[in-house]
Amino acid sequence: MIIKIEMNDKEFELFRDYIYERSGIHYTINKKTILQNRVRRRLRDLELDSYTKYFNIIKNKSMSDPEVIKFFDEVTTNETSFFRHDKQFIALEKMVIPELLANRRISTINIWSAAASTGKEAYTIAAVLKEIPELKGKNIKILGTDLNQKVLNIAKEGKYDIKDIKNVEKKYLKYFDIDEKNGIVTVKNELKSLVTFKRFNLTDRFTSIPKMDIIFCRNVFIYFQKHTQKEIVDKFYDKLNPNGFFILGHSETLNGIDNNFTYRKFNNENLMIYQK
Ligand SMILES: C[S@@+](CC[C@H](N)C(=O)[O-])C[C@H]1O[C@@H](n2cnc3c(N)ncnc32)[C@H](O)[C@@H]1O
Repeated sequence: MIIKIEMNDKEFELFRDYIYERSGIHYTINKKTILQNRVRRRLRDLELDSYTKYFNIIKNKSMSDPEVIKFFDEVTTNETSFFRHDKQFIALEKMVIPELLANRRISTINIWSAAASTGKEAYTIAAVLKEIPELKGKNIKILGTDLNQKVLNIAKEGKYDIKDIKNVEKKYLKYFDIDEKNGIVTVKNELKSLVTFKRFNLTDRFTSIPKMDIIFCRNVFIYFQKHTQKEIVDKFYDKLNPNGFFILGHSETLNGIDNNFTYRKFNNENLMIYQK
């Protein structure tokens, strides 16, 4: 069935409020066509002919319901890449890790990629940490979480298009099995074994999350309103060990959000790195 119907404003508002209440993601009216096209895919799969009928199917279901999972798989935006904003990973190697090691005797280092998408961020962190001699013999635990189950399945598999590693520095390529013939790269177990992925909603309570030394939460705050950002920032602060680091995306900031973090520059550059 081909659904050509447009989502009307009333339907848009139903979905907008539903998504916002459950995930914090704020769809503004100028994103109506994007939302319509995304929801339409669910209508097509279920052979439904109206947005309201679909809304009635999901409206009272829990976040772990299979259809609700599929809905949020559609309405989240998952763009990511290996070594995205690479200067932040230089700061991770040259400032963040050395300071953590200097501050405290650490046998296990816990890092959270809190909007992990397909796992490229978590595997980038793993590769960087593997190359730091001072971390030899330490237990590295990276947790990757996301609301979108589909991207997490890709993350767990660790299989990507060969084009995705074109900007990865040569010294890190040893962590990938490269299949030139089929144009596929697979993350090796050496990295995979450091990372665990699970579905987690940042607007939920953080009781199931262990204490962290570093939290990456990059390029998801842009979808949240200030008060949602503030609630999540406070929860991150509580989850961090003393002196722990919190890293935002390069176009995001805590400016204008009342918070307890200290802003840290690296080489006099603004890399959106904060410290508890
Ligand atoms: C643009 S990606 C960012 C990926 C990666 N951090 C990066 O910077 O390359 C944003 C991710 O946030 C996830 N997300 C959106 N709302 C969320 C929520 N409430 N809880 C958990 N993850 C969420 C989306 O599913 C998406 O995969």
